[in-house]
Amino acid sequence: MSSSIPALSDYLDLDDITSEQFWGLLRLGMELKEERRRLGQNTPILAGKSLALLFQKPSLRTRVSFEMGMVHLGGHAFYLSPGEVGLGSRESAADVARVLSGYCDGIMARVFDHEHVRELAEWSPVPVINGLSDFSHPCQALADIFTVWERVGQLEGLTLAYVGDGSNNVATSLIMAAGKVGMKVQIVAPQGYQPDPKVLEQTDADVTVTDDLDGVVGADVLYTDVWTSMGQETEREERLRIFPPYQLNRALVERTRNVNAVVMHCLPAHRGEEITDEVADGPHSLLFPQAHNRLHAQKALLAHLLGGIPLQ
Ligand code: CP
Ligand code: NVA
Repeated sequence: MSSSIPALSDYLDLDDITSEQFWGLLRLGMELKEERRRLGQNTPILAGKSLALLFQKPSLRTRVSFEMGMVHLGGHAFYLSPGEVGLGSRESAADVARVLSGYCDGIMARVFDHEHVRELAEWSPVPVINGLSDFSHPCQALADIFTVWERVGQLEGLTLAYVGDGSNNVATSLIMAAGKVGMKVQIVAPQGYQPDPKVLEQTDADVTVTDDLDGVVGADVLYTDVWTSMGQETEREERLRIFPPYQLNRALVERTRNVNAVVMHCLPAHRGEEITDEVADGPHSLLFPQAHNRLHAQKALLAHLLGGIPLQ
């Protein structure tokens, strides 16, 4: 089958990916989700293929969704726990990439230092997928946009308001992803925790940044994430003093003035801090469909990068 959309060699960051490639991944993920819904299984297009899951940080969703994605597509994944490989300490990322790529057909890596995923990709002849770094979380953004598309039926012209730490990996990838699909972004974050100006320069999205909670007015999607990300634990006390006004609670949902607004959070959540139980478990919440869609959206990455299925 031929495709006019250029193939990806890795999935590291959204600035490396065009809007048509991003849309191609969304469509392929939707097809694979539909295939499994209809037939109870996917075609085993990754039979005989394997994926290394290399983790420097904890994970539930990323680890399990990639592992099950490989199983569903007929392949195999193996988990390398934090501390086991010693990426950048016991062994350089360049050497890890050259060794692992002799054993398996793809590498998914969750790292602290973003340069490590870049270095893995530079030295690996097999595709590398960024499963979160301190800088970005492009797999999360793919699944999140997939979820909004599935639920709302459109993306162009929608507004996503992100409340909380606007400088973190999830916010960065959402800002980049929104630009691929014509969504607007309103970042509502305290001074000092607003997006890096370089990220705002790189995105095609129309982004406004404010520390005023009225920034959520008109939002179709209200998104938050933890105030203290993995690796920032020493800053937790300070962040707990700064962020409470930015809690995603019922008053903030009402402040959108949009009765159809949906609420999203990448999880894990610190319930009672950045989001209340009432909202996380309430009628606007997409938290669990969003988590489940990690599986379906990432299958598109696996089918394309490891299985050679073209983007269309
Ligand atoms: N959202 C997300 O990436 O979850 P994990 O940290 O559990 O993988
Ligand atoms: N910003 C969070 C996302 C976790 C999926 C973190 O990096 O800890």
